[in-house]
Amino acid sequence: MLVLGIETTCDETAVSIVEDGVKIFSNIIASQAELHRPFGGVFPEIAARAHVDFIIPTIREALEKANVSAEEIDLIAVAKGPGLIGPLLIGLNAAKALSISWEIPFIGVNHVEAHLYGAMMSHQSFDFPALGVVISGGHTFINRILDVGNYEMIGTTVDDAIGEAFDKVASLLDLPYPGGPEVEALAKLGDPLRFPFKAGKVKGQPWNFSFSGLKTNVLYAVKGQNAHKRDEAKISAEEKCHVAASFQEAALQDIVSKTFVAKEHFGGKAIYIGGGVSQNRRLRELFSEKFASFPVYWPDRDLCLDNAAMIAGLGFHCYKGISDPLDLEPQTRI
Ligand code: KG4
Ligand code: ZN
Repeated sequence: MLVLGIETTCDETAVSIVEDGVKIFSNIIASQAELHRPFGGVFPEIAARAHVDFIIPTIREALEKANVSAEEIDLIAVAKGPGLIGPLLIGLNAAKALSISWEIPFIGVNHVEAHLYGAMMSHQSFDFPALGVVISGGHTFINRILDVGNYEMIGTTVDDAIGEAFDKVASLLDLPYPGGPEVEALAKLGDPLRFPFKAGKVKGQPWNFSFSGLKTNVLYAVKGQNAHKRDEAKISAEEKCHVAASFQEAALQDIVSKTFVAKEHFGGKAIYIGGGVSQNRRLRELFSEKFASFPVYWPDRDLCLDNAAMIAGLGFHCYKGISDPLDLEPQTRI
């Protein structure tokens, strides 16, 4: 079955053609990062307008790159949420329009679930029960995967998502958006033990996360007593590297150690990781040190950040022969 996937939950317009849930024919991503950089984060109205401009050319490009005609597509899969309402509406309406005009079914899938599916499709591995770890700009949680589409939540963040914390720390260090890769690059030059930063523990909930205190640690390290003023960071370029390294180490160690405790408690055959922060090299090192011979599956590089291949792949698995109704609404929350 040939599936055309559409992803427009945030600031990437992405379209992909995938066969039988795993074979990627094309995976096109029109990034809006440049448009949002001046604002230090995603500006929802600009994102929605850019999706309007990009969606048709990106669909065309995905078909051309895959060397596939519209008549050959069997199913449209679209990310129905969670995400920003304007961007979601553009993707969902494009999917409905294609479904009507091409006379094929469409299905809405969950974007966060698709991040975990990215690791499964990268390795063609479906080793359940397993643990899932989602670490993105909008979400941070650990769940039990009983099957594709069957999950139990174990622990989630009580405040910021980890990617959001990376982005906010980047902004404190005067680094451009998106901040995660910038912080990682700076951290390579710094000493991770220089600042005694710590991610939060949530009382009575060993698998929950909290990054807001860690972010405040960084704020005071960067701005000292002037933390309440919105002025430029006053620390030296060298100190910034140490702050980045110490923050990154504390945040990533927290993900690894809570996942380890969850694995000891809940067991399972494997761990699947998804979301933009999975691109981080230091995180992958920490996991391989801690989990040694236990199978930990990462998404391929092209499937870490928001993309439509994971949407098309998951759509293939979720489709049960019946099209979603045309009044399917976007779901902004998880
Ligand atoms: O999954 P994603 O593309 O979008 C959401 O669904 O949120 O994740 C984007 C997030 C951003 O916060 C970005 O800063 C972070 O992933 N990120 C990273 C790295 N690359 C992207 N964080 C840490 N290290 C990285 N190398
Ligand atoms: Zn995402």
